[in-house]
Amino acid sequence: MADLKVDFCGIESPNPFWLASAPPTNTGAQVERAFAAGWGGAVWKTLGNPIVNVSSRFGGLDYGSQRMMGLNNIELITDRPLEVNLREMAQVKRRYPKHVLVASLMVDTKAEWQEIIKKVEDVGCDALELNFGCPHGMCERGMGSAVGAEPKVLRELTSWVMECANVPVIVKLTPNVGDITEPASAAMEAGTSAISLINTVKSIMGVDLDRMVPLPRVGDASSNGGYCGPAVKPIALHLLGQVARLPNVVPISGIGGIATWRDAAEFMALGSTTVQVCTAVMHYGYRIVEDMIEGLSDFLDDRGMSSAMELVGRAVPNYRNWGDLDMNHHVVAEIDPERCIGCQLCFVSCMDGSHQCIHLPGMSEEEKRRRGHVVFPAEVPDRAALGEGAIAGARVPWVHAEECVGCNLCQLVCPVEGCISMRERRKGEARLSWNERIASGDDLVPGGLDATRAARAGRSEGGGE
Ligand SMILES: Cc1cc2nc3c(=O)[nH]c(=O)nc-3n(C[C@H](O)[C@H](O)[C@H](O)COP(=O)(O)O)c2cc1C
Ligand code: SF4
Ligand code: SF4
Repeated sequence: MADLKVDFCGIESPNPFWLASAPPTNTGAQVERAFAAGWGGAVWKTLGNPIVNVSSRFGGLDYGSQRMMGLNNIELITDRPLEVNLREMAQVKRRYPKHVLVASLMVDTKAEWQEIIKKVEDVGCDALELNFGCPHGMCERGMGSAVGAEPKVLRELTSWVMECANVPVIVKLTPNVGDITEPASAAMEAGTSAISLINTVKSIMGVDLDRMVPLPRVGDASSNGGYCGPAVKPIALHLLGQVARLPNVVPISGIGGIATWRDAAEFMALGSTTVQVCTAVMHYGYRIVEDMIEGLSDFLDDRGMSSAMELVGRAVPNYRNWGDLDMNHHVVAEIDPERCIGCQLCFVSCMDGSHQCIHLPGMSEEEKRRRGHVVFPAEVPDRAALGEGAIAGARVPWVHAEECVGCNLCQLVCPVEGCISMRERRKGEARLSWNERIASGDDLVPGGLDATRAARAGRSEGGGE
């Protein structure tokens, strides 16, 4: 069976699954229950100077029958006294010495950083996580994402910490920046041992239209909060990929919308050594880790990987710039008439949202004109007449393969699993990227390379722009 242990900048974790700094790591009793359930590590709810929270403070976004696809919060850091947190941290570490305990910190001045670091190291925490990501409340006081969004400030604060820290330091980044590589590089220049990302995405959950107050409502008003949960996973994966591609990158702890072993495996493949989870635990409880452990373990076994470390970063070389993708790779949609239920959703979406290349058999000439088909090929088969598909018959649409641009939309909307597949039909045998094409002098003037050269020659003769 694959070994799930991971080495995260010198710290051994029993598995890659950690709890993110948030309500599930608020108290010692909670973290102990989480470790007993199987979590390999926990980042304690951020410690700092005392705060006061408001109520209400969470907002959820439901989508169809899926509750809390996105979660928004305007909660601040811990509202419990530092001494109580420290006492409980020490106890957790005594009872679970092999599990990873990370102290998340957010203070203001250099003296405060030095003082709190000494205290959390004294209780035996394995690493520090610097919360430079909280995008609400604390940033108005010059902390959290106010630091994460300013690479110079982030570099300076990280250097203060590196001067006095005796355990590995993780810088936690905010996604609320234009280019994540800037704060990530600043953290590495300051000598951080690792990076974690993402903290929450700035958001407003909705508006109470009766009261004309944004959500979540705090009396007669609200404030922007931080968004997380399944909805942010694609954003988190992108930012993770950007950081993972940096030269000499430090170990990364990936966060954002992770709920299953598959999510975790994807984050690991894209460069995370450990993953952190918050919303999924707030929704379903600590027990989800059991499925995560079993699922990842089975996956590694199936793929012949003997250790979770072998998965880390496997997909990073395949995350490329658009200009390096193979333009000769081409796919076209194919409908399986045996599976099709004839709902014709693919037809509608291709007609209105893509390239008008799905056709309905048996349409009258008048209907074709009315629907405004750009091309209506003569060869659309009448499946009813052919006797194909017991149920769908004449309702099974037909894809004009020559016109299909391979955008995937029909497959995405089709309600029947496996009914539409995308078949490979290469445009050319060799790989050809946009950058290779430009490098060869062909910049897509109709007519190809010769026409391009002629057009360039004409421009220089005419002395144009
Ligand atoms: C209610 C709530 C409170 C949070 N508090 C903190 C915090 O104190 N410190 C911190 O670094 N991140 C905090 N976070 C952010 C999480 O640690 C995590 O980065 C984010 O929720 C994304 O992960 P998820 O999609 O698994 O929830 C909080 C998130 C939520 C929902
Ligand atoms: S969306 Fe799928 S099931 Fe519906 S008509 Fe198209 S192929 Fe058939
Ligand atoms: S892949 Fe896109 S273009 Fe091709 S049939 Fe489907 S929706 Fe139309």
